[in-house]
Amino acid sequence: MNAAQKLKFSIRPNPAPVAADVRAGLLKDPGFGRVFTDHMVTIRWTQDGGWQDAQLRARAPISLDPAAAVLHYGQEIFEGLKAYRRDDGSIALFRPEQNARRFNASAARMALPQLPEELFLGAIDALVKADVAWVPGNDGSLYLRPFLFATEAFLGVRPSAECLFMLIASSVGSYFKGGDKAVTVWLSEHYTRAAAGGTGAAKCGGNYAASLLAQAEAIGHGCDQVVFLDAAEHRWVEELGGMNVVFVFDDGAIQTPPLSGTILPGITRDSILALARRQGRVVREERYAIEQWRADAASGRLRECFACGTAAVVAAIGRIRSAQGDFLIGDGNGGPVTAALKAELVGIQRGQIADADGWVRKIL
Ligand code: PLP
Ligand code: COI
Repeated sequence: MNAAQKLKFSIRPNPAPVAADVRAGLLKDPGFGRVFTDHMVTIRWTQDGGWQDAQLRARAPISLDPAAAVLHYGQEIFEGLKAYRRDDGSIALFRPEQNARRFNASAARMALPQLPEELFLGAIDALVKADVAWVPGNDGSLYLRPFLFATEAFLGVRPSAECLFMLIASSVGSYFKGGDKAVTVWLSEHYTRAAAGGTGAAKCGGNYAASLLAQAEAIGHGCDQVVFLDAAEHRWVEELGGMNVVFVFDDGAIQTPPLSGTILPGITRDSILALARRQGRVVREERYAIEQWRADAASGRLRECFACGTAAVVAAIGRIRSAQGDFLIGDGNGGPVTAALKAELVGIQRGQIADADGWVRKIL
């Protein structure tokens, strides 16, 4: 066992947690990413000393040197996963080891240190246990946000020799304001998200910074999310600003863009494809061209389309809007395959459907 695996968390409970009645008020309608819990985890890393100083403590602002590399060169990664309060009263995570693995894949791409999986999972266990009162019931969940960034005060351009891992948590409800209603997406024909050889498959802050203008354009056109095309031909559908995209055809087949390095390998995407295969559906991980999307929607060959990701879970896409005009998927209100896949995924996450694949990790 190496030193990082043996690292123990120092636990200092928040001396002034949010009062129970205030918390109950916040949990009534938390929205997404606005309500934060009482604690956070911090673990420092230095090139010479490795991982050290693991703490669970009161959530509070941190201080950074103005020369900290992350503020200048954006050397940062993050993850997103949820803890669910289940019908039997237990609290469970969904495939958290996949988030730990993707965190390290992102770290490798961004020249950040590898965090041992035990530390990633240990931090999550410690925070969820400390903040269990913040896990909402019903349709809500506790969204966990691990992140790692470069803290070395140095303006030379090279990987930072000092980093900070942090974990915060946010009580959340639905990601989209419209709740379960089918969403409208804006086709970005001008901006792209990632190119071959770039950072598209890493969950790094820079990818999201680069998507904000396109996302703002989407909002400006009355849409919920932006959908990106590939950088080389501006033709192949890639993914949404914060979700993968899946197509459902009239013969029951499912198709989604392949993991070719420019899109995020979504854990929800992977789970949905596994569930669809188990239902006996043909599952294709193949490119899909925007003109084909339009033609298949018009002919009725394409029956449904949905976005999937941790924050959004599964959201039907009802309408695509672009400079060339709108097109509808089906009647614009989602469809039965999307609804059934969502129900199965959510049922497993919340303990209402048997967990045949061992995806659920109970922590309380
Ligand atoms: N694509 C992007 C750009 C995302 O931000 C996310 C969300 O994390 C996803 C896809 C879906 O990934 P996951 O299902 O692992 O949350
Ligand atoms: C997630 O689903 O975890 C994400 O990071 C996406 C973001 C839109 C919140």
